[in-house]
Amino acid sequence: MSEELIDSDIRMAQTLPSEFYTEEKYFTKQMEEIRQCLQFVGHQSEFDSDMTPIPHLEAILKQPLLRTNHESEKHLLANVCTHRGMILCQEKKNGNSIQCKYHGRTFEKNGKLKHMPGFENVENYPADSDNLPSLNLEAWFGFEFTSLNPSLKLESILQPIEQRLNWWVKDLNLQHDAARDREWDIDANWILYVDNYLEGFHIPFVHPELNNALSKEEYSTECYENAVLQIGMANENDICFDIPDDAVDAGKRVAAYYWWLYPNMMMNIYPWGVSMNIIVPTSVNTTKILFRSYVQNPELLEMGAGALLDKVELQDQNVVEGCMRGLRSRLYHRGRYSAIHEKGVHHFHMKLTR
Ligand code: FES
Ligand SMILES: [Fe+2]
Repeated sequence: MSEELIDSDIRMAQTLPSEFYTEEKYFTKQMEEIRQCLQFVGHQSEFDSDMTPIPHLEAILKQPLLRTNHESEKHLLANVCTHRGMILCQEKKNGNSIQCKYHGRTFEKNGKLKHMPGFENVENYPADSDNLPSLNLEAWFGFEFTSLNPSLKLESILQPIEQRLNWWVKDLNLQHDAARDREWDIDANWILYVDNYLEGFHIPFVHPELNNALSKEEYSTECYENAVLQIGMANENDICFDIPDDAVDAGKRVAAYYWWLYPNMMMNIYPWGVSMNIIVPTSVNTTKILFRSYVQNPELLEMGAGALLDKVELQDQNVVEGCMRGLRSRLYHRGRYSAIHEKGVHHFHMKLTR
């Protein structure tokens, strides 16, 4: 991929060519890139069982994983038996050990081999390779992340959020609300979903109800190395954050902080709590969208910009699927960016093609 493909001057640049959204060879490269990036595991409040499989990471990383609580430690283990490769745990459960249902091999919840019937005469056994391998599991104010790339620095990626919202993170007490989780399969390439997220340009056209909840003039976009922040301001009568006087956004009526984390995660912060969006590319033409809700102030759930999530989502999916059809057109190849409204999309395309 060429460095020049997306001109760094947005006023000159052309958008990402259509083959990046439609051709298998680009999709394969994009998946390799995604697998090296930070990935969301979940929030501590949803790991109340001793063992929790993480299906969305299996889809992204091609690696079945099991999040475990072992005494006071947390682990992210391969969910694959070291004997003949059986999946160990298919659903959330409690117990003192992980037992394979095929031939009964058992492991401690930190991955260490515990017992295997019928292996009494086996030489050089047990070896290190009989234990379950694990991935890094890093916690950030209750949110847990991992990556196949051990050199990736969680703090540097999430630092812009922590700096901007230090008043918010310090009092965090979020609880997962499974009743509010959502899952959709859409007929569109994953990049289209991210592109659409990264601009508020379409809000007046696609989301009339959200447009009414947000103040017209003040939607803003800021680009960071691995993140884009969009801020929606509340209308006069709508719910907004109570921001302390010494904060960067003091005096502003912020309705929502929309953080995108490169390349496939969104952390939407509302006065009620957090909606995490996880984008799972399932093929070059299809994408699974997961919403996870973590609630801090349940009494604010039905108020303001954060109350319209389902409606807004379906409106977005409709335009994203429409673009997927359009991108297959012979008569379209690439477009131009609005230098005012599409800074986030431009930033993403530059990063993806670098
Ligand atoms: S595959 Fe697990 S014990 Fe045989
Ligand atoms: Fe939208």
